[in-house]
Amino acid sequence: MDQPRKLHIKSFGCQMNVYDAQRMVDALAPQGFVETANADDADLVILNTCHIREKAAEKVYSELGKLKLLKQDAAQQGRRFEIAVAGCVAQAEGEEIIRRQPAVDVVVGPQSYHHLPDLLAQARREGRALETEFPVEDKFGLLPPPQPEAIRARGVSAFVTVQEGCDKFCSFCVVPYTRGAEMSRPVAQIIADTERLAAHGVREITLIGQNVNAYHGEGPDGRPWTLGRLLHRLAEIPGVARLRYSTSHPLDVDDELIAAHRELAALMPFVHLPVQSGSDTILAAMNRRHTADDYRRLIDRFRAASPEIAFSSDFIVGFPGESERDFVATLALVEQIGYAGAYSFKYSPRPGTPAAEMQEMVAPAVMDERLERLQSLIDSQQAAFNTAAIGTTVDVLFERAARHPGQIVGRTAYLQPAHVMASDDIIGQVLPVTIHSLERYSLLGELASRPAEPKPVTIGA
Ligand code: 5AD
Ligand code: SF4
Repeated sequence: MDQPRKLHIKSFGCQMNVYDAQRMVDALAPQGFVETANADDADLVILNTCHIREKAAEKVYSELGKLKLLKQDAAQQGRRFEIAVAGCVAQAEGEEIIRRQPAVDVVVGPQSYHHLPDLLAQARREGRALETEFPVEDKFGLLPPPQPEAIRARGVSAFVTVQEGCDKFCSFCVVPYTRGAEMSRPVAQIIADTERLAAHGVREITLIGQNVNAYHGEGPDGRPWTLGRLLHRLAEIPGVARLRYSTSHPLDVDDELIAAHRELAALMPFVHLPVQSGSDTILAAMNRRHTADDYRRLIDRFRAASPEIAFSSDFIVGFPGESERDFVATLALVEQIGYAGAYSFKYSPRPGTPAAEMQEMVAPAVMDERLERLQSLIDSQQAAFNTAAIGTTVDVLFERAARHPGQIVGRTAYLQPAHVMASDDIIGQVLPVTIHSLERYSLLGELASRPAEPKPVTIGA
């Protein structure tokens, strides 16, 4: 094999992209590629792009402009410097990327990452840029499993993809077009990946998918398994201390998933359940296929199963036709639920989606103002949630040394960063921590001698 070549991946967007970046590293490792933190000294740079919101494509072209200069520098030094574009912009723009930026060597969509080594080799051989034809195929069986070196580098928490794509067709969203139809991975593959990760020190597994609770992968019994059933099975794997899943659609939550929160100690009581809007008119226009009350009842069912559960959500403000009254209904819903945190976005029309054809655009200044009102409400709820931790003893999974010498950082069940002074052999352990203060979004505390108490969540209705 040639001497190691350096690979730099710059990821934008969702956790699926973070995960995919890891899979690309795994796919390229057998070709002698090792990861580097800098684009400057890389031999191959992959832009792992996101198309979900505004200006995604423009951002990619401006990044590519910078990479082109690095490629020119490398050429002057007689060094090969390759550029690949992956992710959803690659999927959406295809050949257009090569046309607009000829410095690009390869364009590859999310369904085809297992072709990356071959594509790069072919582009090199033929001396021309290549684009995959983006076939929708079984990508799941084709990538190599996570490699031990790479697992260690990732630390104590890892993503495992369980499904990809989405059949929900929310009217604003490009995912069903860029990521394609919903596909679930077979249970056996997920168990194998999880066992491998756990054997190499991973303690927390987050099952990910664009619509993760639509999961219906084939079980060892030849029948489709639900996400709830899968979680029960994964909780049996030695070494797995914590399980999470993201992102869920309210319509696909079933009793088994809710019950899993009562039954599985390893399943963390923090659920990302996007609602997008609190107005039934807007929810209908978004093709969400649930009402605000359906969502409220769902939250109640989760809370009845496990009072510790806290929620996060996504919101879109300024969807076409959103009136002040619709927006106030969103604020009211947020008030009632009481979130531990949430993401809110200004609506941006995505070409090819039904909402992009809608006429009644909300004025940009109105969108800005609504975003600010919503964010300040969510921020105050998040601050209240974090403040409520002060004086309590909570379990923390320790991840790594923090910036201050002697300090170790980990995460609570609710993904709050928590810092203690301790030796680094606590990394990888879940230990009780008594929280004494808050520094921005981080909890500060000390290792406790008594076990953590379950904490009923107090904010919200
Ligand atoms: N405009 C604004 N936000 C969007 N999202 C998805 N599509 C759009 C869009 N066109 C948001 C949704 C989704 C999150 C991942 O991104 O809130 O849940
Ligand atoms: Fe997009 Fe809706 Fe599918 Fe989420 S559920 S990925 S918002 S279409």
